Amino acid sequence: MPLLYDSTTKTFTIHTDHTTYQMRVDEYGYLVHLYYGARTEGQMGYVVTYADRSGMCASPHDASDRTYSLDVLPQEYPFQGGGDMRNTLLVVRDANGTFGCDLRYDRHEIRDGKYALKGLPAVYSESADDDARSLSITLADKRLGLEVELLYGVLPKIDIITRAAIIRNAGPAKVVVKRAQTACLDMVHGSFDVITFNGRHAMERRPSRCAVTPGSFSVGSRRGMSSNQYNPLMIMCDRDATETSGRAWSMSFVYSGSFLAEVEKDQYEQVRMQMGLSDEQFSYPLEPGEELIAPEVIMTFSNAGIEKISHNLHRCIRKHVCRGPWRDRPRPILINSWEAHYFDFDGDSLARLAGKAAELGIDMLVMDDGWFANRYDDMRSLGDWTVNEQKLGGPLSQLVDYVNAMGVKFGIWVEPEMVSEDSNLYRAHPDWALAIPGKDPVLGRDQLVLDMSRADVRDNIFNQLCAVFDSANIEYVKWDYNRSIVDVYSRCASDQGKVLYDYILGLYDLLERLIQRYPDMLFEGCSAGGGRFDAGMLYYTPQIWTSDNTDAHDRMTIQYGTSFGYPCSAMGAHVSASPNEINGRDVPLTTRGVVAMAGGGFGYELDLMELPERACELIKGQIKMYREIDPLVREGLYYRLSSPKKDRVCSWEFAAEDGSEAIVCAVVLEVEGYGVANYVVPRGLTRGALYREATSGNVYPADALMDVGVPLPVGSAPYMTRVYHFVRLDDAD
Ligand code: GLA
Repeated sequence: MPLLYDSTTKTFTIHTDHTTYQMRVDEYGYLVHLYYGARTEGQMGYVVTYADRSGMCASPHDASDRTYSLDVLPQEYPFQGGGDMRNTLLVVRDANGTFGCDLRYDRHEIRDGKYALKGLPAVYSESADDDARSLSITLADKRLGLEVELLYGVLPKIDIITRAAIIRNAGPAKVVVKRAQTACLDMVHGSFDVITFNGRHAMERRPSRCAVTPGSFSVGSRRGMSSNQYNPLMIMCDRDATETSGRAWSMSFVYSGSFLAEVEKDQYEQVRMQMGLSDEQFSYPLEPGEELIAPEVIMTFSNAGIEKISHNLHRCIRKHVCRGPWRDRPRPILINSWEAHYFDFDGDSLARLAGKAAELGIDMLVMDDGWFANRYDDMRSLGDWTVNEQKLGGPLSQLVDYVNAMGVKFGIWVEPEMVSEDSNLYRAHPDWALAIPGKDPVLGRDQLVLDMSRADVRDNIFNQLCAVFDSANIEYVKWDYNRSIVDVYSRCASDQGKVLYDYILGLYDLLERLIQRYPDMLFEGCSAGGGRFDAGMLYYTPQIWTSDNTDAHDRMTIQYGTSFGYPCSAMGAHVSASPNEINGRDVPLTTRGVVAMAGGGFGYELDLMELPERACELIKGQIKMYREIDPLVREGLYYRLSSPKKDRVCSWEFAAEDGSEAIVCAVVLEVEGYGVANYVVPRGLTRGALYREATSGNVYPADALMDVGVPLPVGSAPYMTRVYHFVRLDDAD
C-alpha cells in the first residue's frame, strides 16, 4: 500500500517504489515531518530531538514544556503565529488586522486515485495500474475557524509525491491570506547544495549550484509569470552529490505565475526547503465559505544522484502532466516564419516557404507574428485578432488550403494575453488592460497586459481566437506572452492583492476552454522563448519554445539546464541560420541539426529559399534521422553525459528504458593543439550485453562503453559532431 496511517502512533507513511515519506501528528496535534528518503519500513519518530533551547524558542501554551518548540521541530505546514521564526508557509490576518494562527490536526482521509485541483493544473493518473493514492489532512485553527487541507498525491511507480493545500475560511469573519506557500521539506541535519535554474531572455535555465549556508537563499519571480530569469524548479542535494551518486530532493511548481522557492539553514543547522506562491503584491481575502488553493508542487527523491531526479520528473511530466493526443504522438516537424521573415512576409512568401518545406519533407508551416490587423511591427495591433487579408492576399483559408494542397499542415502564432495601445480593442476597452488609475502604465515591448482575471475579457479573446481558428484548417497554435506584469490593478478586483493569482486562474481557464474546443490542436507554449517554461503550462501545451536563442552552442547550455526538470518531449528546438541572429555565432548545419534534435518539438526557423543545394540535402538527411530517433527522444531516458559549461565535449544520450538501444550525441566545444583524446561515456546500457553501433557496424561490450567510452577522433575541429546509435545484440545476433 502506498499510503498508510498507523492510528496508534498517528503516523502517516507514503511509500513509492524507492522512497518513503513519513509524518506524525504529535501529542499537541501538530503535524511533524519525520522522513523523506530511501524506501524503508519502520517508524522514524526517533529522528526528532527535544531539548530546552532557552526562552528564545517559544513553546505553545498547552505544552508547558520548554523542550517543545515549533521553532525547532521539523514540520509539514509551518505557519506564522505558533512560534516558528523560520520561513513559514502560511501567514494570515484576521478581520481585526491581527496576524497569527495556530494550525492543529483535525481530520484526515485516504482516497484512491490522484486528487485534482479546481481551476489549476495538477498531476493526474488515468489508469488504475498507476496505483495512485491521495491523502488529505485537514489542520484547523479554532479561533479563526480557518482550515488548511493538505493534499498529498502519490504515484508510487515513478517515485513522485505531490503536494497542494486548500486554505478555507470555515469561520464567521473575513480573513486575509498574506502568504500561501504549498510545500516544505524540513531536514534535521545535513550538508547540502541547492541547485536553481537561472537566466534571462534568450539564455534561460542555466543551472547554478551553491552551498546551503546559514540564512535564507531564495529565487522567485515577481513578474506575474514564472519567468526567463528564474525557473520554479529547485533541487537540493548532498554537497558531494553527482549525476549518479548522492541524495537529492526536488520541488517543481505546477504554476505559471509569480513564485518563491527558498532554502533556509536555521540556528540549529537544520534546513528547510520550500516552494509556493510569491507573497509580493499578494493579499488574498477569504470571506466565510471561500477558499484559496495553493498550487501543486511535485516532489521527488533520489539516492542515486541528480540524474534520477530528472528521470522521475520526466516520466511524471510526460505522462501525468501533459495531456491530449499530442502527449504521445510524434510532433510535426515545423518551419516557422519568424527567423525566416520576421514581420516582412506576405501570402506569396509564405506559400513559397511551404513549397520548399514540402520538398524537404517538413510537415508544417507556422505563420508567426505579423498576420493580423496592422501588425507590420511590434508596436501595434495586439488584441485585434483579425486576419490581414491584404497582406496575405486573401482570406486565411485560401492560404491554408494552398499550403495543405502541397501536403504541408498549417499553424499560427497568437499572443492572446496582450494588447497594444494602438489597437481597436484598447481604444474600445482601455480598462481591460492592467493599469493603475492615475499612473502611466509601464510598457514592455510597447504593449500592455490584458486583465485575464476578468471573464468578459477572456470571453472576448476566446471568441476572437475561435473565429480565426474556425476560419481555416489550423492544426497548431503557438501561444506567446512577451512581457512581465508591472502594474497590478484590475478594475474588478475586490482586493488588488488577488490580481496576480486570479490572472493565472483566468489564463488557465481560457486555455482549458480552447483545448476542450480544439482537442486535436497542438498548442506550443512560448513566452519570449522560455519565459513560462513550467509544469503548469505543460498541462495545457505539451511543448514549449525553449528559448528565443537558437544558436546551437548556447542551446546546448539551455537544453542541458532545462533537462534537469523537464523532458525533451516538452522542448521546442529549431535549426536556424548561421551566423546566429542573436549572438552572431557560426555553427555548422550538422551541429545545429543534432542539437535541435534533442527537442521533441523539432523544426526549422530560417529562410529555406536561400539555402544552397548541399544544405537542402543535409536537411533532408536530418529530417529522416529525426523521424527515426523521435520515439527515443520523446519517450527514452535522457542522460546528461557531460556539461556544456565544464567539459570540452558536450554529450547527451537518449536510451530506451529497457536498454535495448541508445542514441548518443557529442559536440566538441573546446580544442587544443595536438589535444588529448576525448571520450564519450554512455550510461543506461545493459551490463554484460554487446552493442552494435548502427552506422559503423562496430560491436562494443556495454561494460567497456560505460566505463571507458568511445574516443572521438583526436584533433577534432570545433563543433565536430558525432551521433552513435547503439543497438543491443540479442543472443541470436
Ligand atoms: C517572441 C517569441 C518568438 C516570436 C516573436 C514574435 O519573442 O519567442 O519566437 O514568436 O515573439 O513577435
